[in-house]
Formats: sequence, structure tokens, C-alpha cells
Amino acid sequence: MKFFVDTADVKEIRELNDLGLLDGVTTNPSLILKSGGKIDEVTRQICEIVKGPVSAEVTATEYSEMMQQAKVLAKIADNVCIKVPLTLDGLKACKAIRSEGRLVNVTLCFSANQALLAAKAGATFISPFVGRIDDIGIDGMELIEEIKTIYDNYAFETEILVASVRTVNHVKQAALIGADVVTAPPATLKALVKHPLTDKGLDQFLADWAKTGQSIG
Ligand code: G3P
Repeated sequence: MKFFVDTADVKEIRELNDLGLLDGVTTNPSLILKSGGKIDEVTRQICEIVKGPVSAEVTATEYSEMMQQAKVLAKIADNVCIKVPLTLDGLKACKAIRSEGRLVNVTLCFSANQALLAAKAGATFISPFVGRIDDIGIDGMELIEEIKTIYDNYAFETEILVASVRTVNHVKQAALIGADVVTAPPATLKALVKHPLTDKGLDQFLADWAKTGQSIG
């Protein structure tokens, strides 16, 4: 399973990339706002750090304007993945951008039928938002199971990119279902390493090692 980080914070991205944990990055207009930077500059900086796909989202809602914005974003770097919303115009833009050989991430997916449409439009990635579905009292991971079944039934090549990930449990469930990618905030990715017994065991080993009076090397 690939790990993308869901942030436009260049410092956090550099840190995770240095750990060897990153396969890509996803951004959106809210994350660009949070970064305090300009979309073209921030995206360029991220693309210089991470070699994998870096999603940058169009903000137009009409097809031809989306295509213009996609052209601008695509010029930033070869690994920019154009993010479009799951609307009829977005699906039309997805098909057109894919035919030009670019990566496309179709975002704001909340139903299996929407995911089916994105696959038919040739999306590279479909982004179902599990956390926001949980927020309205429905199990977001059930949607991932449905999409996985549908994509397997028809051997669609669109990758399932689990988004709006809020917990380490979302990551585990996504992996058990066989999702292709998770995108999670930096803190959630870092929290995957945590286990109290690991900390306790390490403390014990270090204490016993000190008692031996030895050193290695
Ligand atoms: O990038 C889209 C998605 O991951 C947003 O997550 O936490 O704002 O629902 P969230």
C-alpha cells in the first residue's frame, strides 16, 4: 500500500520524505490556505522534494476553465497529478486530461456510484473521504469495501486512494480491504509507529544494557 501525506506543509513533507515513508502528496484548497503560500510556489517546492504524484486541485467548476487551470498546474512539474471534483464537468475534464497523458485524482467521492463513474472516466486515483462519512454517522470504510469490490469485478485500473483519514485504525482497515493508497495528515502517519509495549520494551532493554557496562564498537 502506498502512503501519501495530506498536507501542503513543506517542512512536514521534507521530514516524512527523509524517513523514506512517502510515495506521494495530496493537497487541496483548504490545505493551501493553511500553508499560507501560493499554490504554484508551494506545489513546485513539494514536487522538488517528492518524486511520486503530487495532487494539486483545480478550483474552477466549469469544464473549459478546469482545463485551463489544469494546463497551468501541469506546467509546474511532471509529477503534478491534477485533482478534479466529482461532478459531471470534473469527470469530463478527467477524461480529457488523462488523454493528454497526465495523472488525475478525482476527489470528493462519497458513493460507490461516483467511484464507478470516475473509473469509467479513466481516473488514475479515486479519493473517497472516509472521515467525512464517519462524521455524518455512517461507516466510511464500508464505502472502501464497496469500491474495492466494484473495481475488482471489472478490473478497473483506477487506484483507490483513501482520503479524509483521521485515525490509525482507518489506515489498518484500508490495508485489510486492499486499498491502493492512503493519504493521511503527518501526525497520523507518524502515529502508525506507536505502541506502548514497544516503548516499554525499549526502556527495559536500554536499562539492562546499561547494567552490562558494555558498549558496541
Ligand atoms: O485531501 C482531501 C481529504 O483528505 C480531506 O480530509 O480531514 O479535511 O476531511 P478532511
